[in-house]
Amino acid sequence: MNRKVKVGVIGVGRGSSMMNYCKLAQNAELVAVCDKWEEGLKLREREWGDAVAYYTDYDEFLKHDMDAVVLANYANEHAPFAVKAMRAGKHVLSEVLPVQTMKEAVELIEAVEETGRIYAYAENYCYMPAPREMRRLYREGKIGEFEYGEGEYVHNCESIWPEITYGEKDHWRNGMYSTFYCTHSMGPIIHITGLRPVRVTGFEGTKIERNLRMGAKGGAFGMEMVELENGGIVKSIHGGLYKNSIWYTVYGSKGRMESAREDAEAGDVHQVYINADAYSGEYGPNKVDAYKVPAQFPELEEKMGHGGSDVYTMYHFIEKIKGNEEADVIDVYEALDMFLPGLFAYRSILAGGIPMEIPNLRDKAVREQYRNDTACTDPKAAGDMLQPNFSKGNVEIDDSVYDLIREKWLVKLAEQEK
Ligand SMILES: NC(=O)c1ccc[n+]([C@@H]2O[C@H](COP(=O)([O-])OP(=O)(O)OC[C@H]3O[C@@H](n4cnc5c(N)ncnc54)[C@H](O)[C@@H]3O)[C@@H](O)[C@H]2O)c1
Repeated sequence: MNRKVKVGVIGVGRGSSMMNYCKLAQNAELVAVCDKWEEGLKLREREWGDAVAYYTDYDEFLKHDMDAVVLANYANEHAPFAVKAMRAGKHVLSEVLPVQTMKEAVELIEAVEETGRIYAYAENYCYMPAPREMRRLYREGKIGEFEYGEGEYVHNCESIWPEITYGEKDHWRNGMYSTFYCTHSMGPIIHITGLRPVRVTGFEGTKIERNLRMGAKGGAFGMEMVELENGGIVKSIHGGLYKNSIWYTVYGSKGRMESAREDAEAGDVHQVYINADAYSGEYGPNKVDAYKVPAQFPELEEKMGHGGSDVYTMYHFIEKIKGNEEADVIDVYEALDMFLPGLFAYRSILAGGIPMEIPNLRDKAVREQYRNDTACTDPKAAGDMLQPNFSKGNVEIDDSVYDLIREKWLVKLAEQEK
């Protein structure tokens, strides 16, 4: 394709990042925006004017003349929206998370296979500077065979809870279980190594005052201990501990690579340390190579969020559509390798901490076991397989908590609208 790829975005919050990409980059143009929240849509209209069409209805939006749809709608509703878009002939870039049930996972894979459309998963943390460099070096064999890794995405969202849940009692962030939002911590380790997860044991942070103040019904944080197909082990932790951390480390048979801890004030996820021998069994003095990972798109990265990583999900998705063989997208199978550890970790937690097998949905026979599996914490999708939001039983949160969050949100919104 020699022209710019025509992009439509649903979800004006997070989706504005992908809209910005279209403004800044040369390979894509924004043609349509969809959101059921009319005020939010008007804010975007102020910015984009007549150059773009605006829709409140997703089905009408899908009729627009465009090549690709970016899904930045609710995190627990991506799969049905992705399936609809692909069946309408559009390529899809999905924000996190890919699905919320096993039934949806089967339906998503089948839609990709049957339509032949490109499905890419926008797990931007894989493209943060250190994990991006660690992937390149791992694939070169720098640290040998993977043995152990850790991924951390710890984000205390209390101060921004009004802006991201709007005081909506049933907002997905209030209802999500502890290990749901797992791909920012798990994803980079999967993308670095290319190994499939096969077994998981889950752990859950308890209910704490902070969560109750926010109106969040799940445990404070989630943790997955995951075995990969080669026997290597991953510890993935994510959620709302008090102090933030984005950090990745990978140990192999001849060395280790990791990013900088935030408290070291040494460049955070922009910095990489490599401590590796030429071969396994060398045991010489440590030779640590430490450097700031260079940006691939310096100008764009400066203007976009999450350590510049937001550029890459869009760049690779658009390049893939244009036929660029080098495009590094996360396909549907890899997306599920990143997400299923969290889904099955919660089953492990609910079963008292026993390990759970992580199915390989590449195998069509395996899909049959899960085709009707709707277990999740969202009553709209779970049917008679509804799980509690918290492993030790649901907690009651008074409506006044949500009213207060709503009031704070309205103040913020009034500031934005000025
Ligand atoms: N990768 C990242 O770093 C990152 C950061 C923030 C958010 N996210 C993801 O982005 C997505 C959106 O999150 P958010 O924080 O912007 O807020 P959100 O999930 O509250 O907002 C979703 C938006 O989609 C709209 N929407 C929902 N259903 C719709 C429908 N049926 N028709 C039309 N519009 C609809 C809502 O009105 C809202 O504006 C989530 O999936 C979240 O996980 C990712």
